[in-house]
Amino acid sequence: MKIAIVGTGYVGLVTGTCFAEIGVDVTCVDTNINKIEALKKGIIPIYEPGLEEMVLRNAKSDRLKFTTSLESCLNDVEVIFSAVGTPPDEDGSADLSYVLEVARTIGRYMNKYKLVVTKSTVPVGTAQKVRKAIQDELDKRKVNIEFDVASNPEFLKEGNAISDFMSPDRVVVGVESVRAEKIMSKLYKPFLLNNFRVIFMDIPSAEMTKYAANSMLATRISFMNDIANLCELVGADVNMVRSGIGSDTRIGRKFLYPGIGYGGSCFPKDVKALIKTAEQNGYKMRVLKAVEEVNEIQKSILFEKLLKQFDGNLKGKTIALWGLAFKPETDDMREAPSLVLIDKLIKAGCSIRAYDPAAMEECKRRVGDNTIYFARDMYDAVLDADALLLVTEWKEFRLPSWAVIKKTMLQKIVLDGRNIYDRKEMEEQGFIYHYIGK
Ligand code: UDX
Repeated sequence: MKIAIVGTGYVGLVTGTCFAEIGVDVTCVDTNINKIEALKKGIIPIYEPGLEEMVLRNAKSDRLKFTTSLESCLNDVEVIFSAVGTPPDEDGSADLSYVLEVARTIGRYMNKYKLVVTKSTVPVGTAQKVRKAIQDELDKRKVNIEFDVASNPEFLKEGNAISDFMSPDRVVVGVESVRAEKIMSKLYKPFLLNNFRVIFMDIPSAEMTKYAANSMLATRISFMNDIANLCELVGADVNMVRSGIGSDTRIGRKFLYPGIGYGGSCFPKDVKALIKTAEQNGYKMRVLKAVEEVNEIQKSILFEKLLKQFDGNLKGKTIALWGLAFKPETDDMREAPSLVLIDKLIKAGCSIRAYDPAAMEECKRRVGDNTIYFARDMYDAVLDADALLLVTEWKEFRLPSWAVIKKTMLQKIVLDGRNIYDRKEMEEQGFIYHYIGK
């Protein structure tokens, strides 16, 4: 089977590479010539464990190709996955201009049946707009060629994308015709070996599923952050409460970790877009509005704790940050809580020594490299620091040598934004230790 994937961003590149890995002939298309030239040389634009090897392997065997021209490969393929960006508009709604441009290009150049699958996260009703954009182009050409649209939302997590794609919990596909359903079944069949399900449904439901899933997960996080903040006030320990409630199978253990707020490219954007869709339909998403509000407040929680620790005066203090990315195993800084923290620390007159295993270049790009000292490693970051703030729970921060750190820090204060250390152990080492929710 031959397919094209338009958009070599996170979702597009992972999707294309994983389909190539199971034997599909894949052409990845992107208008960004630099990106395509780099990919042809095996240079991957994102940090994702395992992706580079997989791209190289499949490119070498010619199952994975790269081009800037959709037109040139369009009539060699039966299925086109559209995975272009849907950045938020100023008002929070998703900008569909890239999605619709892909549709128009397909309509302009197709000369036989195509199945056009939207993988990007798009508001309910987008598939119909895609259908219309293709049909309008066919009408302009005065030709009548059959095609189908489908919706196949993506549930990949950054840092775990390959295994999420190869052994997903489920694949959701919205279709309107038996022909489209058959093609999608065939394409995903190799994954059936891993015992997962393809759930077929109508297109609006598939489009809605993605927003509902991400919004539910974001709600769990904001809910737990609220509970954590209340735990602190009443003398409870949120870690205990989390195990207590998580053991109820109706609630489940995953995604109950309080912290410094969710970030990344999906949760903030999708929650906003769903609120907007509701507004456009005359409905108010009250729960999601609160989810957003809690998340904004939570991004400042470490700063507030630090302020309290130093009696409201942080001027001249040296603060070490471990982690900058919005979560581990990625260099992604989009909506990262660390950006809010950095801004507040600088305004309060602190100097910052930061270390992140992957996101320092990206952070430099965003905040400049003269406001922060980017450390060589985690130990360099804590040198002469008045406090250490654990921001992102990278594995290498889990078992540091506290004995060494103790000697190099000016004051032994650790604020843990991800609840990864043991309170007793920290206190035994002589640290003042705070975490979220106790
Ligand atoms: C998310 C969804 O999980 C994925 O299915 C969807 O396709 C894209 O959005 P991603 O943004 O890559 O994936 O990261 P995820 O691991 O879900 O984490 C999102 C944010 O929530 C991070 O900032 C993380 O630190 C935070 N988080 C997660 C918590 O604060 N607590 C938790 O218990 C879990």
